[in-house]
Amino acid sequence: MVWDYYDGKILFVTGGTGIIGTTLLYRLLSQAAPEHIYVLCRGGYERAKTKWTEMLSAPAAEILTQSNRMTILDGELGDTATMNLPDDDLQMIKQKVHIIIHAASSIALNNSLRELDYTVIAPTVCLVQYALKFAKLEKFVFLSTAYVNAHLWTKSKSSDVAVEERVYPLGSNDENPVETAPHVYRELQKTGTTEEYETHDFPWPYAYAKHLAERLVLNKAALKNASDKILIIRPSVVGPADQLPYHGFTTSYSSPSTACAAAYALHPGRKINLATRCENPDKEATIDEVPVDVVAERLLVHVALGSSGCVHAVSGEKGRLRIEDWWEAFKKERRWPWNVKPVWVSKDWHSSDLHHVAKSLKIIGTSFAFSEEKTDILSEKLNSDLKLYADRSKPYSLVHRRHHIHHLARQMAKKSRLPACSASILLRKGKPHT
Ligand SMILES: NC(=O)c1ccc[n+]([C@@H]2O[C@H](COP(=O)([O-])OP(=O)(O)OC[C@H]3O[C@@H](n4cnc5c(N)ncnc54)[C@H](OP(=O)(O)O)[C@@H]3O)[C@@H](O)[C@H]2O)c1
Repeated sequence: MVWDYYDGKILFVTGGTGIIGTTLLYRLLSQAAPEHIYVLCRGGYERAKTKWTEMLSAPAAEILTQSNRMTILDGELGDTATMNLPDDDLQMIKQKVHIIIHAASSIALNNSLRELDYTVIAPTVCLVQYALKFAKLEKFVFLSTAYVNAHLWTKSKSSDVAVEERVYPLGSNDENPVETAPHVYRELQKTGTTEEYETHDFPWPYAYAKHLAERLVLNKAALKNASDKILIIRPSVVGPADQLPYHGFTTSYSSPSTACAAAYALHPGRKINLATRCENPDKEATIDEVPVDVVAERLLVHVALGSSGCVHAVSGEKGRLRIEDWWEAFKKERRWPWNVKPVWVSKDWHSSDLHHVAKSLKIIGTSFAFSEEKTDILSEKLNSDLKLYADRSKPYSLVHRRHHIHHLARQMAKKSRLPACSASILLRKGKPHT
């Protein structure tokens, strides 16, 4: 029922060489029968092939690199809809494509709003405007983030913040955040910031850039009476795959908790300063890490079943981790003769007294209860072979990403002018595809 929907469909995908894009292309090509998939990639086929061959095991990479149902278009997103593509390709896409999946994005959390306008907001606006002209468009999918609503952390009285699958207004409660989006965007373009951004405590400019991009996408669609054609998928913290393309699939750069493990592993002291306002942070603070194949599966299933609006792709209350559990897993990877422990301080998440990873990731020490209502409703109607939820039947472990933690730690060591061998001495070494 789900996979039949893709029979004969033509898709256009951006970000197909990223961790999420790669997983969903693999799932589509190995499970469904779309007529064709066009993938936008900077550097074209050769670059996509190199990236997939490096990041995947040989049999999985072959599914992508040898497919005759997929064409790589050499282009780039920017602040025009042309994507550096030849006119013929643009016309062909406009006439043929049924589904656009827009997964390309900068994930530079702390870049300025001006930079993020160029790398996140403008490309998304250009693409959705273009897509809404397509004769056969059935769905435009925008990959956002569950942390578009992370500003609720400082506002909420609870230390476990409930977040619904909707757009929260940043002005008064009776403001329509979709209607106000173009006005706010003009303010950002003119001044480099906005009043609403300055009055709310977002962890990073990236979270707000995605918040505004979501609203602009919904606004453009509403103006064309096409709101039902928009699906916004909000992943939390992406982690290794449970099953697809294979258990443990991940990359070094797209999984925030892998970066965290690498940085903590190099920490020589016994204590790491982290901010929280939970009373018992080891047990109350949580990390919502979602396996990448759960994100891909939710996206593809919601498209097939005609969902629209915002959908969380998260582990949720059932599958998120307590900090304590993450730390237990981390301890098994670190090879210093002494342990390192979190020291919780009741400071702001922007405080300069925190460990540098906490200063950059900021959501460590928080807890969000992301609603999964739309997926729960849909999964009741479907068979259980679908991978819509994280598998937490086994204790959480970082074993499958040893290679990536090690690789990142080597790079971090180099930057901090530590000897290149320090990562090998201080961490266990893994294999790239386990
Ligand atoms: N990873 C996470 O933890 C996470 C969490 C929440 C939300 N998300 C969102 O999910 C989406 C996919 O993330 P991901 O982790 O799969 O990303 P990723 O692994 O960092 O890959 C980013 C992808 O975007 C492409 N890209 C970036 N800028 C581009 C441009 N100007 N033109 C064309 N392509 C461009 C990259 O292409 P190249 O190969 O050319 O570099 C790559 O394919 C993003 O929207 C991200 O914001 C990710």
